[in-house]
Amino acid sequence: MHELAPVSPFVALAYLIAGILFILALRGLSSPATSRRGNRMGMIGMAIAVVTTLYTHDIASLPEIIGAILIGGGIGFVIARRIAMTAMPQLVAAFHSLVGLAAVLVGAAAFLNPGAFGIVDALTGQLHPASRVEMGLGVAIGAITFSGSVIAFLKLNGNMSGKPILLPARHLINLGTLAAILGLVAYFTTDQSPWIFWTVTALSFVIGFLLIIPIGGADMPVVVSMLNSYSGWAAAAMGFTLGNSAMIITGALVGSSGAILSYIMCRAMNRSFLSVIAGGFGAESGGAASGAAAVDRPYKRGSAEDAAFLMSQADSVIIVPGYGMAVSQAQHALREMGDMLKKEGVSVKYAIHPVAGRMPGHMNVLLAEANVPYDEVFELEDINSEFGQADVAFVIGANDVTNPAAKTDKSSPIYGMPILDVANAKSVLFVKRSMGGAGYAGVDNEVFYMDNTMMLLADAKKMVEEIVKALD
Ligand code: TAP
Repeated sequence: MHELAPVSPFVALAYLIAGILFILALRGLSSPATSRRGNRMGMIGMAIAVVTTLYTHDIASLPEIIGAILIGGGIGFVIARRIAMTAMPQLVAAFHSLVGLAAVLVGAAAFLNPGAFGIVDALTGQLHPASRVEMGLGVAIGAITFSGSVIAFLKLNGNMSGKPILLPARHLINLGTLAAILGLVAYFTTDQSPWIFWTVTALSFVIGFLLIIPIGGADMPVVVSMLNSYSGWAAAAMGFTLGNSAMIITGALVGSSGAILSYIMCRAMNRSFLSVIAGGFGAESGGAASGAAAVDRPYKRGSAEDAAFLMSQADSVIIVPGYGMAVSQAQHALREMGDMLKKEGVSVKYAIHPVAGRMPGHMNVLLAEANVPYDEVFELEDINSEFGQADVAFVIGANDVTNPAAKTDKSSPIYGMPILDVANAKSVLFVKRSMGGAGYAGVDNEVFYMDNTMMLLADAKKMVEEIVKALD
């Protein structure tokens, strides 16, 4: 191992404090009740890390760096404020691509000017072998993160078809390319010729692209969180090259939390992690089977007044929000409806499916924004058994997460996904705009046609506002 530049105890302490604050931030973000505090901890930690780095490093030009921070921060601020909540997954993918690119650029800078990074062996005048491994791996992971995230962005943003693009012999090509990258990184430790460094970089850009194009739209959230994890590992590898402990800690935290999140999402969607990475899943998404929803079948349609009457007479109502609630921004009206029902003595609870909406925690964030009390919001495992005793399940803009086909139809694209058992409630009120519109997986839902279901066909926000009026 090469010697890292000696670090002053104050700097080490400041980085340690920043690291602890990041860990507390992650802890805080694990529950909606503490997430704001967690976010603040993360921001303070990052401020400490940035100021310490600026203060301690021999920075060529402080005004240039501050200028860059202001421009980048300003662009990020404007984009984050303007972005619609439903477009958050592609924004996250775009941001990850920048983290990957930054890792590649830092690696390239260190390779081209190793003296400035203190990674030259004084005896041989060559790069330390350990630095070569860190640099090679950092650049490889960074490049994979960059091109993979760009493809994820294009797919999520609709600039590229969400359908998997399956190359013949893709597993062979991918394995061959990965083996070549690893082989070249190993060879780089014995020979620091530029062609090796640049070939590793180029092959990694290619493999990032190849790994993500076969993955279908339905699995994109898992991919985004996986790329998030990669971007963390790329940063950690670069932290070693730069001898910066804050970067190593932060990178490892991002890397491991992204990996855990990917695993949790895979479990919630009943996919194996390996099968997502290997690609080709989600072929059915984007409405491939949506024709099924258009078949004429009898169903009951109700009005806002019917729904208001039914719920005001109920003892307990369980609200199941989904993607449609997010699209129509119905959460505030929904909270108002919940408040009115509670005044009438009705017990109101919210049931959240782990993949409801389009990103992890999507529903929790929206309900928190509307100040729905946290103790009324329940995860799937905690509330599913209660549908059997509930008078009304009020499903608003959710579809796949309530679809019994996930349990009964082996050919269904959502087969195996755990669902919220809304069909067990005495009555089901189902808010959506039309009978034709299918959910993300593009499949029809038996619950629409059940005897105890009443379809409330309208925009979710409008429907809830009318129910609120009727309750009044
Ligand atoms: P979906 O199954 O996508 O169903 C959304 C429903 O909302 C549809 O029935 C749609 O019907 C309705 N809708 C859309 N706009 C509406 C509006 N303005 N007013 C009223 N209704 C509206 O949603 P879900 O149940 O939340 O399930 C999520 C799905 O997305 C799952 O398949 C999941 O695997 C996938 N997914 C999840 C994530 C994460 S991490 N959460 C990420 C990507 C994909 P109409 O068109 O007829 O209105």
